[in-house]
Amino acid sequence: MSSIQAFRGALLHSLADPADVGDAHSHEYFADGLLLVQDGKILQAGPAADLLPQLPAEVAVQHFPDALLCPGFIDTHIHYPQTGMIGAYGEDLLHWLNTYTFPVEAQFADEAHAAEVAEVFLKELLRNGTTTALVFGTVHPQSVDAFFSAAQARDLRMIAGKVLMDRNAPDYLLDTPESGYAESKALIERWHGKGRLHYAVTPRFAPTSSPQQLDQAARLLREYPDLYLHTHLSENVKEVEWIKALFPERTSYLDVYDHHGLLGARSVFAHGIHLCDGECQRLAQTGSALSFCPTSNLFIGSGLFDLAKMEQHGVRVGLGTDVGGGTSFSQLQTLAEAYKVGQLRGRQTHPFKLLHLATLGGAKALYLDDQLGNFLPGKDADFVVLDLKATPLIDYRLQQSNSLEETLFALITLGDDRAIRATYAAGRCVHQREAS
Ligand code: GUN
Ligand code: ZN
Repeated sequence: MSSIQAFRGALLHSLADPADVGDAHSHEYFADGLLLVQDGKILQAGPAADLLPQLPAEVAVQHFPDALLCPGFIDTHIHYPQTGMIGAYGEDLLHWLNTYTFPVEAQFADEAHAAEVAEVFLKELLRNGTTTALVFGTVHPQSVDAFFSAAQARDLRMIAGKVLMDRNAPDYLLDTPESGYAESKALIERWHGKGRLHYAVTPRFAPTSSPQQLDQAARLLREYPDLYLHTHLSENVKEVEWIKALFPERTSYLDVYDHHGLLGARSVFAHGIHLCDGECQRLAQTGSALSFCPTSNLFIGSGLFDLAKMEQHGVRVGLGTDVGGGTSFSQLQTLAEAYKVGQLRGRQTHPFKLLHLATLGGAKALYLDDQLGNFLPGKDADFVVLDLKATPLIDYRLQQSNSLEETLFALITLGDDRAIRATYAAGRCVHQREAS
């Protein structure tokens, strides 16, 4: 039997969506907990007082004082090639894409460049406690090779794909329905299901794919089980108008993807801000998911996502940073902005709902909740050590806290990468913050 690892500290994890079971029953908390890990999987989580006496004497216990151990964060929408252009000044989505995004993505024709950025990107994700992400590459297959190689070297659970884009973008970034299909297929054969890696068929968004290319994307989904479909949907009002002009025969933006057979389990649509009730119903009916990307939606000025409406319709929703449209790799910062979007929509998002969004909710949106999202036995041992004394202000603020909710909420509001003391993937430490 391989050895057991034991981590002692305060443990908090989500058990269910507060929308389904109420805030009080949505989570489990052990003030003095023990997390037992074996072979990269969770063996058990519970009160230290109960578990310590059963632990074989030779197991060394690692202590985390002044910390909160939570499941690793899940980012359901991010672009690794845009790491170097985060925080670019722009007008709106279409201007921002043409001015900054496309020229930066052209550089990924060079695999050495892609490998360099993949390293920076993964380090940044782990510095922020994100252990799984659904990731856009560029149109170049080598961008995805570089990303998966870097993720495999760290044994991370990651999902990524090559962008499909055969129109309405600069020539130097276009593929064709045939080349996009063939290159995606080769990448699927090379990477999908290898270790903890999964492939996502990735048409950028309907304006940059011809109907023929959308058909080829659906063909890949039919040919391979368990692939993801990852794209953008209804982010910006001008984009929605453009869809009407490009696909006049379709009844809505979502109907374009629906018509081409791209909805279903493991189909993830980023944004979904300007959706009608019928589109929400169809997302729910097909088990498709939305990625809520508040920092991006505010930064690019796209609009306010309606989380309450998605709950009413039963649409799966995960949290996304959407870097480089988004302005932070930190899921804590992203949750803080999600809360503010809720405020402007006239609804408060409870701290336990926020925790769920960044962990188990993301896992459910990705149909990975049998492997990720909380500390139930058998799941991947991907977790973060949140530092309750990360900064002088956080330390002082949390000393005034009277409840777990208050502590969690203040940590979300004030926290960022400085609050991540360490990150573990499959039981291995993959990031340790330098002593301040
Ligand atoms: N829509 C199409 N491409 C993109 C992109 O790269 N970022 C965002 N935020 N929206 C998009
Ligand atoms: Zn995006």
